[in-house]
Amino acid sequence: MIRVYENEDITKLYVEFRPKFQECVVERVLKFCNEHQQSENDNQDLMVDVACGSGQAASAFQKHFKRIVGIDVSTNQIKEARLANEYDNIKYEVGTAENIPLGENSVNLLVSATACHRFDLEKFFTEAKRVMKPDGCMALFSYNAPRIIPKNVKDPARRQELSDKTTGILVKYHDIVNDEQSNVHQNNKYQDIYKNIYAENKQWITEDLVMKRDWNLEQLIGFLRSLAAYQEYMKMMKEEHKDASEEEVKKWDRAVLLRDFVKREWEMEEVKDEDVMMEAHFHVYLVLANKLK
Ligand SMILES: C[S@@+](CC[C@H](N)C(=O)[O-])C[C@H]1O[C@@H](n2cnc3c(N)ncnc32)[C@H](O)[C@@H]1O
Repeated sequence: MIRVYENEDITKLYVEFRPKFQECVVERVLKFCNEHQQSENDNQDLMVDVACGSGQAASAFQKHFKRIVGIDVSTNQIKEARLANEYDNIKYEVGTAENIPLGENSVNLLVSATACHRFDLEKFFTEAKRVMKPDGCMALFSYNAPRIIPKNVKDPARRQELSDKTTGILVKYHDIVNDEQSNVHQNNKYQDIYKNIYAENKQWITEDLVMKRDWNLEQLIGFLRSLAAYQEYMKMMKEEHKDASEEEVKKWDRAVLLRDFVKREWEMEEVKDEDVMMEAHFHVYLVLANKLK
């Protein structure tokens, strides 16, 4: 289990820079639930968000459930989630995907966002089946590095070129340095997870779910720094170069390299970071299942 999210530095970045899930994702999940769950009045009693971080999925579903419980193994993520929580019907608790602190047959919808690639999946599926109601639904979703599209670059060919190059760097930096399991699941967009779910009804969606965010350069760099891949890489490099000066660190700090690249290649050296504008497109992939076997 990666424990990088225990660290307070990353959980503070997380709550500020990680995207909340947008309505297109919520709608797709609820459509599946409505199609497959029988008892209409009782479908929206309890949702659990497993590995909730600072509540990026729990808060997105807030208005659709009477009660939502977000659980995460990291006490610091839970601390940030509680601080940011604006809703009476959402509670956050420390807990793990392999040992969910909820009773049997209690959950209508179990959600896990950008996280299940890290779980012990066999134990998680056993726990999911235990806590879910017999006709309950499960939604596992994630995104990889977002596509970055510069604004204020008028020439379409140039914009495309800069978009490809900048996204390419982010894709390279997004890979988890030492977590092969996560890389495999994320690279195949959870296809292997989908295949390993035994359920009466299931669906795998990989297209047309795009969350668009308007970002400036500060937000792009904040997002990069909130990635486990970035944090793990920095930790590894600092251990290898214990006596490195601040100037030397800047030569391999990926946040500094990406920022320098954007300022230089987008020809915005004179522009403040907060005024370097872009769109970030997150392509979400989604596994849905109902009546786990
Ligand atoms: C990339 S974050 C995702 C947070 C949030 N769900 C989101 O979509 O932004 C992954 C989270 O999974 C948590 N996590 C990892 N393994 C876990 C496990 N086995 N049980 C519970 N939480 C876990 C980490 O602490 C971290 O907060």
